[in-house]
Amino acid sequence: MQEDKTPPLLHRTVLLQEAVDALWDADSGPAPRGVYVDATFGRGGHSRLMLSKLGAEARVLALDRDPDAILHATQGEGAIVDARFRIEHAAFSSWAQVVSDLDMGPVQGLLMDIGVSSPQIDNPARGFSFRFDAPLDMRMDTTQGESAADYLARASVDDLTEVIRTYGEERFAWPIAKALIERRDEGQPVRTTGELSAVVARSVRTREFGQDPATRTFQALRIHVNRELGELEDALESALTMLAPGGRLAVISFHSLEDRIVKNFITRNSREEVDRRAPFANPKPLMLHAVARIKPSAEEVSANPRSRSAVLRVAERTEVPWTAQSGAGADSGKGTKSTKGKPKGKTGGKHAAKDVITKSGSVKGGRR
Ligand SMILES: C[S@@+](CC[C@H](N)C(=O)[O-])C[C@H]1O[C@@H](n2cnc3c(N)ncnc32)[C@H](O)[C@@H]1O
Repeated sequence: MQEDKTPPLLHRTVLLQEAVDALWDADSGPAPRGVYVDATFGRGGHSRLMLSKLGAEARVLALDRDPDAILHATQGEGAIVDARFRIEHAAFSSWAQVVSDLDMGPVQGLLMDIGVSSPQIDNPARGFSFRFDAPLDMRMDTTQGESAADYLARASVDDLTEVIRTYGEERFAWPIAKALIERRDEGQPVRTTGELSAVVARSVRTREFGQDPATRTFQALRIHVNRELGELEDALESALTMLAPGGRLAVISFHSLEDRIVKNFITRNSREEVDRRAPFANPKPLMLHAVARIKPSAEEVSANPRSRSAVLRVAERTEVPWTAQSGAGADSGKGTKSTKGKPKGKTGGKHAAKDVITKSGSVKGGRR
């Protein structure tokens, strides 16, 4: 039998130490107990470190919507054999439901390291990358839903333009969408990553330095097919009801659309706002304290260039009990229109750049 020379599909966990340390007060005495949720298991870098630091009575519940991640956690060399660990195949928008069904709440910490894993991008068969020619799938959960090719087979030009413009922040969204639909109308629908790249390359008139012209369109279709921003919004809202008082939320995001949702969610629930129409009314009870905003160190970025755009935001659940009214009236932040704001942090220096956020919401110390 011939030796398999295919390199293993590895994932280098981003902000590993920083994200796990953010889940509890690292200086506080004995090993933490309670329930911690790793909502994006991937290859389990964060889960494994959590298990190594948590006490004997703690539990880690991991989720992933990708069946390959579940296989990795349960079978073969990567399997986690630890009575404190459990993994479920689920989208993280339903994490509260999973915790309730398993009767595991309340939760001390929720970690989300969102986006795609390296094994997903680097596996040609998954159709996430323009680096390989393969069927245009892009689903993280290969057991359900519509592939990117199926979406292109039915989308209207307006809908496709909106998807590419909003989720890809692509200036040439309309010519790209028009070219894709024309091709379909001529009986040649795009079914592969290679075909998609070629159509986009012909439709994009200016090139961004160091970036493949198809980058933005691939990102847009991936976000759309996996409903990534809606998933994130739903998962964040559940943190208000499911986190124990003092429980921590730590979210790593990789592009400005996601980071803006996380930032707005934390700000909305951690800053007092005076209602100008009722200035003497009691202030809205605050459900979160913003704790930190952390970027990878220069060392991490040079060792793992994929960490370059990562931002970790951390918040802590206050003691305020959740009521239906706590959620009501607050701007849900739903919607996907982005402004052009970019994360302000710069990577540089040896340590991860950390801004500590005071309870009043102002930013102290740290480098930006
Ligand atoms: C960046 S990787 C996580 C890597 C992981 N922290 C590690 O150390 O290996 C993101 C993972 O989240 C999963 N994922 C993304 N969106 C998800 C969602 N809405 N629900 C559940 N899992 C999701 C992906 O399938 C992928 O495995």
